[in-house]
Amino acid sequence: MHRSTARLRNLLVVFTRLTLLIALLVSLSKIAAAQLLYLDAGQPVEARVEDLLSRVTLEEKISIIHADSKFTTAAIPRLGIPRRWLDDGPHGVREDIGPDTWASAGRTDDFSTAMPAGICLAATWNPDLGFKEGEAIGQEARARGKDIMLGPGVNILRTPLCGRNFEYLGEDPFLSGVMCSGYIRGEQSQDISSCVKHFALNNQETERGTINVEVDERALREIYLPAFKAAVQSGGVWSVMGAYNQLRGQHCCDHDYLLNKILKDEWGFKGLVMSDWDGAHDTRECALNGLDLEMGTEQKYDDYYLAQPYLNLLKSGELPLAGLDEKVRRNLRVMFATHVFDAGRKTGSLNTATHQAVARQVAEEGIVLLKNEKQLLPLDAAKLKTIAVIGENATRLHAHGGDSSGIKAFYEINPLDGIVKRAGEKVNVIYSEGYRKDGGEDLAERAVAAAKSADVVIYLGGLNHDKGFDCEGADRKDMKLPYGQDELIQKIAAANPQTIVVLEGTMVEMDAWLDKVPALLQAWYPGMEGGNALAKVLFGDVNPSGKLPATFPKKLSDTPAAAFGASAYPGTNGTVTYAEGLLVGYRWFDTKHIEPQFPFGFGLSYTTFKYSHLKLIPGTNGAVAAQFEIENTGKVEGAEIAQLYVHEKKPHLMRPEKELKGFKKVFLQPGEKQTVSIPLNKEAFAYYDDAKKSWLTQGDDFEILIGSSSRDLRLMGKFTLHNDVIQQ
Ligand code: BGC
Repeated sequence: MHRSTARLRNLLVVFTRLTLLIALLVSLSKIAAAQLLYLDAGQPVEARVEDLLSRVTLEEKISIIHADSKFTTAAIPRLGIPRRWLDDGPHGVREDIGPDTWASAGRTDDFSTAMPAGICLAATWNPDLGFKEGEAIGQEARARGKDIMLGPGVNILRTPLCGRNFEYLGEDPFLSGVMCSGYIRGEQSQDISSCVKHFALNNQETERGTINVEVDERALREIYLPAFKAAVQSGGVWSVMGAYNQLRGQHCCDHDYLLNKILKDEWGFKGLVMSDWDGAHDTRECALNGLDLEMGTEQKYDDYYLAQPYLNLLKSGELPLAGLDEKVRRNLRVMFATHVFDAGRKTGSLNTATHQAVARQVAEEGIVLLKNEKQLLPLDAAKLKTIAVIGENATRLHAHGGDSSGIKAFYEINPLDGIVKRAGEKVNVIYSEGYRKDGGEDLAERAVAAAKSADVVIYLGGLNHDKGFDCEGADRKDMKLPYGQDELIQKIAAANPQTIVVLEGTMVEMDAWLDKVPALLQAWYPGMEGGNALAKVLFGDVNPSGKLPATFPKKLSDTPAAAFGASAYPGTNGTVTYAEGLLVGYRWFDTKHIEPQFPFGFGLSYTTFKYSHLKLIPGTNGAVAAQFEIENTGKVEGAEIAQLYVHEKKPHLMRPEKELKGFKKVFLQPGEKQTVSIPLNKEAFAYYDDAKKSWLTQGDDFEILIGSSSRDLRLMGKFTLHNDVIQQ
């Protein structure tokens, strides 16, 4: 008894001493922290940046501005600076690789929610959904210990052939800018820095590392830069990735005009510019022309331009130390902005029900109904005995493909699984592959037999992420459906006229079969919930509301980049000249009066919408609000994307026929009517004047065109700007 009391007392003494010791250590560290201003989360970011900057040595500064593995920068333990983790990308958090190779790290804890491809997000025209997607990816990135996420990609779809179009947000600078801003705000709300890419003019994969882009200043300013500007000024993005290609003879990762003059000076970007992987080219240029962080693929990290070679030039006094400080400052600023040093930094979450729901919703809202004769869709499972699902894409998984934007998905519902589940046990769903790379005629014969035996056919074809289709590192050779699908679809449609074609991937030529099929859906790459989303659209649980973020041409030769020969695409002698200037996408088709297969902004619904009562309400300083009503005149609920285009009557300089300057997605119950207001400011009427080197809003008459697509304009109002306004 006595002995145990004594033992208890001893234990208590030890416990009390330990507690005192811990308390002492805690308060000591608090004192230390209080003395180190940069560790005090209550201090302004700039004060913290300057304080930490004053504590890092020259060598440590150098270590902050270049990689120490494929996706990291070095830690500085004595100052509590952790290793920074960067990772792809736009569609979720990529599987871990390396550290010094591109091969998988072989982990079992690096799965992620696979969101639909960027072009599908753009097709939702729903910036709130962009926010939710960014937020979900940000949460997963934090849960996976990342700091900077390499996305979104906002290069403009200049030619349908570009292998990375699926990652980007379509052909329109305004739509891309709005959609990427929502995404960035969502992602960065999770203490992650987004990294908008590839700045700028990375519009093709052919010779991407070297190709020199010659583009006129107007097209640069009006078409290729606005999405980046929006990412900076309205998304508040903290990181920007330079592009591999050159602009006017200078590589974009070390391009004084793009990085220093435009991005930093004109737009006021305060974050960091990183190179694309191995995209830097020269120590002096990297040092002086605005690059803040060099990332790459070579393993000799000390040999990076911004490593030992830069240090040598700094030590010899050939390059100024102030330039290094500015780079470090920008890197530290991003760390503070994302709360790297702060106790309450968000820790994220993985594969939550919300993340899955976001992935599904983006797919549901991004799938575009392009054709629906005699209301074949939506399908009624109760009226069907047999559905033939045909096509390799019905079972093919895509989320992991495409290269750097690929995802090791937690799971991926393919279209066949989604259809089988939704059709229910009473419907017999038969599957036939129909085509395959190197597949034989027997595949087609079996598919035709399956088509004949069914009430309805759902054909799932299109492209995939194989090199040479929708994949980084190469462009497509043409816009044709591969593997004999043109012939196959015709045979299937002949065998069963109730054929619904669903295409995955980016745009293809359809003339061979389009008039032979009654229904067509564009499903892009719809992510890991894609099969469920598609089934919901097919069976009417979801009313399709997506609209094309890019013109679907009838044939490649109709497109602007193809109209000017090889020098305009893919380039000759290492240079590609953007001879079409401003006339990209619908700007070209409208101005040149070329009939597209499906126009920009087009997408059908299972209901109908009526537009009426347009009023233009002038504001101050060139602003005007377009107010109008939209009514759901059909029998099911649905969403309409009302689009606002501006047409200038007598421009001084050539202007495209019309340009998108506003849009609004409106959700309406049957019979419901809503008043929609789309505000415009003077920028909506502005163009870039090469000679004056500034944006100019010219006093003139304008038409404000409101419609359901770029070629289905329902309302028109006139608006006069009285004075010329120059804006920098
Ligand atoms: C791509 C980038 C990507 C990077 C890292 C590059 O090849 O162009 O988009 O973020 O690799 O994977």
